[in-house]
Amino acid sequence: MKSLKLAVALLGGITTLTAAPIVAQERAATARPWMDATLSPEKRTELLLALMTLDEKVALLHGPMGMSFGPGPLPPGAIGSAGYIAGNARLGIPALQESDASLGVTNPMLVRGAEDMSTALPSSLALAATFNPAIAYEGGRMVGSEARAKQINVQLAGGVNLLRDPRNGRNFEYVGEDPLLAGILAGESVRGIQSNGVISTVKHFALNGQEHNRMTADSVIGEAAARESDLLAFQIAIERGQPGSVMCSYNLVNGTYGCQHDWLLNQVLKRDWGYKGFVMSDWGAVHEVGAFTAGLDQQSGEQLDKQVWFDKPLKDGVAAGTIPTARVDDATRRVLTAMFAAGLFDRENAKGAIDYAAHAAIAQHEAEEAIVLLQNRNGVLPLAAGAKHIAIIGGHADGGVPSGTGSSQVSSPWRAPGAPLRSVPLGGEGMMGMFANVVFHPSAPLGALRERFKDARVSFDSGAYPAAAAAAARDADVAIVFVYQPSGEGEDVPSMDLPYGQDALIEAVAAANPNTVVVLQTGNPVNLRWKDKVGAIVQAWYSGQRGGEAIARVLTGEVNPSGRLPLTWAKDESQLPRPVIPGTGAGPNDRVTVDYTIEGADIGYRWFARRSLTPQYWFGHGLSYTSFGHDQLEVKGGKTITASVTVTNTGSKPGKDVVQLYLTGKPGGAERRLLAFEKIDLAPGESKRVTLTADPRLLASYDTRKSGWVIPSGNYDVAIGTDAGTMALTGSAKVSGQTLKP
Ligand code: BGC
Repeated sequence: MKSLKLAVALLGGITTLTAAPIVAQERAATARPWMDATLSPEKRTELLLALMTLDEKVALLHGPMGMSFGPGPLPPGAIGSAGYIAGNARLGIPALQESDASLGVTNPMLVRGAEDMSTALPSSLALAATFNPAIAYEGGRMVGSEARAKQINVQLAGGVNLLRDPRNGRNFEYVGEDPLLAGILAGESVRGIQSNGVISTVKHFALNGQEHNRMTADSVIGEAAARESDLLAFQIAIERGQPGSVMCSYNLVNGTYGCQHDWLLNQVLKRDWGYKGFVMSDWGAVHEVGAFTAGLDQQSGEQLDKQVWFDKPLKDGVAAGTIPTARVDDATRRVLTAMFAAGLFDRENAKGAIDYAAHAAIAQHEAEEAIVLLQNRNGVLPLAAGAKHIAIIGGHADGGVPSGTGSSQVSSPWRAPGAPLRSVPLGGEGMMGMFANVVFHPSAPLGALRERFKDARVSFDSGAYPAAAAAAARDADVAIVFVYQPSGEGEDVPSMDLPYGQDALIEAVAAANPNTVVVLQTGNPVNLRWKDKVGAIVQAWYSGQRGGEAIARVLTGEVNPSGRLPLTWAKDESQLPRPVIPGTGAGPNDRVTVDYTIEGADIGYRWFARRSLTPQYWFGHGLSYTSFGHDQLEVKGGKTITASVTVTNTGSKPGKDVVQLYLTGKPGGAERRLLAFEKIDLAPGESKRVTLTADPRLLASYDTRKSGWVIPSGNYDVAIGTDAGTMALTGSAKVSGQTLKP
């Protein structure tokens, strides 16, 4: 009886406890009807917008960096991150706390303290090499969950600028040269981020293809070529990922800055693609208030601009009638809808727990699928289990794996208590100089290999002196030379050559030991002039915080390499559309023309195919420790192309193949385009039937007179390629003529 009373009392207590917030919520719902989460984001936005003053609307349309620029306090309300947009207490609008997130949640200049750590993924270019959308989603989901746990609700992620120059300092932040591959992977990563109820961007819109003179570079290109290449990558990423925001770029396009480009923002993005989210500027990319009517909705990182344009000048424009109030409503509506859709109004922005061990495993898995085996002579790899002496040389392999520099750098894990910091400051002029530190994430390949060869001698030589390294390699069963290339935001690498005399190091080691393996840790393809003198070449990219483990597992064969190149690897600069980086020798403020009309939409493998050039490696190339056979190609036409092929693991080890379907010819002539791809896992002897369907836009040409994608009727030749230059099986089918909307 007593216990029954207690139970009733307790239940009563619980009822009262739960009833109070419900009543409060109901009251709030009446006073603030937009807080009713059962309504659509659009409806809630209209309810809120109707009550907002001009000042309140404008306050949502600009904001500072979420950190002090030099010593000084943070903007009130900011938790410390790249960007901040203040909330509104009267109306219960939460603040936007924005952090970079291409590779993990950043903590720029340790603004949130040295203890604030995040998981560091491999570079986005490495992600592209996985050819695996599920990995992109999983990485994005992980990053978004860490952001949310850190009270960050906007992720400046989704870099999808196409790789037009192998010297672009930021290629490591992007997803390669092909619009389909890049669009799918960036889109999946954004979808993963946003699955946590945080907003993500895609960036940098558009044609931001080099860092050299990035504030003054003018990307020149025709409309059709732009739509078929860089813009298509954005379009696919936006369709897949539904990002709440698009970040416009620093550079100019055909003479107009990206963030005040009426054609790009108002016409292509918002009109043709029907984009409903908001456009935020890159940090320091706004030059005048006119950007607002050209389609920019929010001025970010405003201390970096000459003026806060989207405050007083914007209100003055409204007062003078040069800026329509409807446009202010439109921009505010876009920001609010994205916020409602992400659920930002429906929860406390509270801190949460992070499972770093589980997240490290995600980073490692991505690195393992990203590593590309470029060359493997005489079965040098996988390393023989019975090796007695393995000579490890160079590349800070005793300390960790390198990362790219700039705003995307996840600078925290190496600050973990007890973890030594290995960092090479590069310095340099301008604001980005202070960010230019090659941080080596402390996942050392040397340690990971020693773990696996406990009975062997695993020696280490720094590689500083080629003669000493050669001496260390001479008696070894195998020599593994780790080399690296620093690259990062703010400056391109000046050439395709490896820096720090590492070519000479490789030559010396290879001369001493024919069983030499080179592990490249680069942001970009580099010149491989020693290629024929070494046994194996492994592209490990910037492999993230578990890169050392991942590299060791691929070298030993615990993991069968399945990465494929997301770029065409030129032999040297002479094969590029622009052998010299545009603007070389120009002053920092000089206007520089980057002439993309040379290759137009024919980026990478399309350029090489069009010019009948033989690259070092084609897009899609990558070896395995097993082998695959492709047969029984069946091609169906109609509105698009659908191809089915049987893939068999013809070797003796389980492995993953990337099945690649290419267009090779269409009415009017030869054409090379990746139409579809799929990564599949096969046991030895196993076969699978794979069916691939082309996005019809990839069969089309963009017609500016018809304002749409035109697919001429006729026969289309396709092939299953082991890379973009090596076609294994060919077929063709008739496709019906159509015009599709832009
Ligand atoms: C970069 C953006 C980044 C922003 C905020 C800029 O320098 O270009 O990619 O999101 O800074 O850190």
